[in-house]
Amino acid sequence: DDSFDEECDYLFKAVLIGDSAVGKSNLLSRFARDEFRLDSKPTIGVEFAYRNIKVGDKLIKAQIWDTAGQERFRAITSSYYRGALGAMLVYDITRRATFDNLKKWLEELRHFGDSDIVIVVVGNKFDLEQKREVSEEEGRKFAEKELVCFIETSAMENFNVEEAFLQMITQIH
Ligand code: GTP
Ligand code: MG
Repeated sequence: DDSFDEECDYLFKAVLIGDSAVGKSNLLSRFARDEFRLDSKPTIGVEFAYRNIKVGDKLIKAQIWDTAGQERFRAITSSYYRGALGAMLVYDITRRATFDNLKKWLEELRHFGDSDIVIVVVGNKFDLEQKREVSEEEGRKFAEKELVCFIETSAMENFNVEEAFLQMITQIH
């Protein structure tokens, strides 16, 4: 709310990137409004959400940019990354192709993003264990190799969603 804005110590911009339908928009709606939709539509261009968070004694306003995974819906990529202090790189643990594409997303991130941007790799849809195509260990190893953080989440079951965003936000400082 407005009173928070005036007292806010920091404004953090962060971006959500990754293939289409991995669950970026639902991770964000879960984090920002505690909402989840089974029938969510692909994001067109970019959408935003805010959440105010207290980290230690600091008040932080997190501005999260939710980008389109589908190439045809992506706008000017460089503007997504401008000024972003954090990035969540999301894949779907039930679709190996979305994991294989992390390399491509990381390249884009390292090309357009700041060199010191905080990156968290997120394996989403943890609730679909019976359909899993990427083991937790593979995800962890990839993240270790790339020197970034790693966490598995379920936007649907609200598992580790808060933790994933907080991991990113608390590391920014
Ligand atoms: P784009 O906007 O096209 O880039 O896709 P997105 O990454 O934003 O995916 P979105 O959040 O729209 O979710 C795609 C589909 O996956 C929807 O049907 C969601 O309900 C579903 N979904 C998202 N998160 C989860 C999850 O944790 N578990 C399960 N089972 N389904 C999920
Ligand atoms: Mg989306």
